[in-house]
This record gives sequence, structure tokens and C-alpha cells, in this order.
Amino acid sequence: MLVIPLLAIALVLIMNVIPWYTNKQRRRKETSSRMWMRTLVFVALIAIVWWALFMPWINKDWVSDVEVVNSEGTAGTAYIAYYPGRSTFAKDVADAFVTGLVDNGWRCEITTASSQAPTNLDRYDLVALVSPTYMLQPAGRVTRYVGKLDLGGKDVVIISSGLFSTKQAATSLAERVRAAGGNPIQTVEVKTGAGMAGMVNPRDVAREAGAAVPLP
Ligand SMILES: Cc1cc2nc3c(=O)[nH]c(=O)nc-3n(C[C@H](O)[C@H](O)[C@H](O)COP(=O)(O)O)c2cc1C
Repeated sequence: MLVIPLLAIALVLIMNVIPWYTNKQRRRKETSSRMWMRTLVFVALIAIVWWALFMPWINKDWVSDVEVVNSEGTAGTAYIAYYPGRSTFAKDVADAFVTGLVDNGWRCEITTASSQAPTNLDRYDLVALVSPTYMLQPAGRVTRYVGKLDLGGKDVVIISSGLFSTKQAATSLAERVRAAGGNPIQTVEVKTGAGMAGMVNPRDVAREAGAAVPLP
């Protein structure tokens, strides 16, 4: 994601500095210190918007308790970690996936992928990760969390949510899961726009994905 602010800064430099050096008329009218001051203000604005406003907005550390669903379930225990994002969408999708699992007798534990989320997942039969897509990538909190895990061959379901393009984020998350020793068995892509006429309801997609997970 770092590439985006760096590209914006490069663009400002190209649009400000090069024309100043190449355009003789402009050079007469404008001193180099004014040109550099303006360039600096633009670069500072990009940095402030990106690192002080935008990144904290989509990268907040949402700490939550581990919630147990269907504590009597005997089919197996699934662990679901999701990044809430700015809306309730990821949580809704995670809950729908849990409903699908519970229908088949799974016991589920669900929490947010935060700095406080459990990292020892040995006792689970299945792990599911639910992440919104930001700039074609999974949420930074989710990738950071996966980086802390040793999945030791565990089956992992990846649910990637987004407005329009979720494939790249899902593939990227699957690669990170493999790097952590996990075995991605299913990748589910859900779109926030669904619910509109003709589109599949994302909660139905997530619930069916949960119901389709083979029992351990
Ligand atoms: C800054 C930002 C970048 C996003 N980038 C993408 C994207 O690249 N592809 C996509 O399909 N959706 C993208 N989305 C939409 C979110 O993935 C979608 O709204 C989401 O899955 C629910 O997350 P939210 O609760 O944070 O909105 C983006 C949303 C935001 C706020």
C-alpha cells in the first residue's frame, strides 16, 4: 500500500519541479524557493492525509473478547478471526459463515484479528479469516495477525470482502496463510454491493460456504 502515497508524491514532483526547470517563462516569473515551498506543501499534505488520517481509519486495532457460538457443538471447533473495517459488513459475513458451520454441528469461537487475538491455534480443527479489501490488498491488521501464526498444516478458509475486486486480496491472503504453514481449503469472495437486484446476497454466500466446510 506504501506504493500509493509514494506514487502521489512522485506525481507532485514530476508536475511541479520538471515543468519549472523546462519552462523558461515560468522560471522567470517564479523563484526556485517558491516552487520548492509549494512542492513541499503538497508532499506534506499527501503525507498527512495518508499516514495521519487515512491509515488509522482502515488500520485501527479493534480488540474484542473471543465469543463462543454453539458451545455444545461436537462436530469440531472452528476459530474465526475477522477485521471489522468501518462498517458492520465483515462482522455480518463472519456471523453468516458461523451460522453455516453451526448448522453442521460445529462449535465456533469468533474474535477480531487484533494485536490481542490468540496466536496459539493448536486446539482448533478449522481456521477462518475474514478481511475487507483495501487498495486491492487484505486489511493490514489481518496480514499482520497471520504473520504471527504458526498454522501447522491447519485447514483455513479465507473470506475476502470488497466493493468490486476481491480476487487479488484473497490470493495475497492465501499466500500468507501458506507462508504461515496453513492449508487454504476454500476462498470465498463477497461483494458489499450484493443485495442489489440480480446479485447474490453476500450473507447467503458466506452461510453456504460455512455449511460446505467438510467435517474434521
Ligand atoms: C480505503 C478503501 C479502499 C478500498 N479498496 C477496495 C478495493 O481495492 N477493492 C474492493 O473491492 N473494495 C475496496 N474497498 C471496499 C471495502 O473492501 C468494502 O467496503 C468492505 O469489504 C467493507 O469494509 P468497510 O467496512 O471498511 O467498508 C475499499 C474501501 C476503502 C474504505
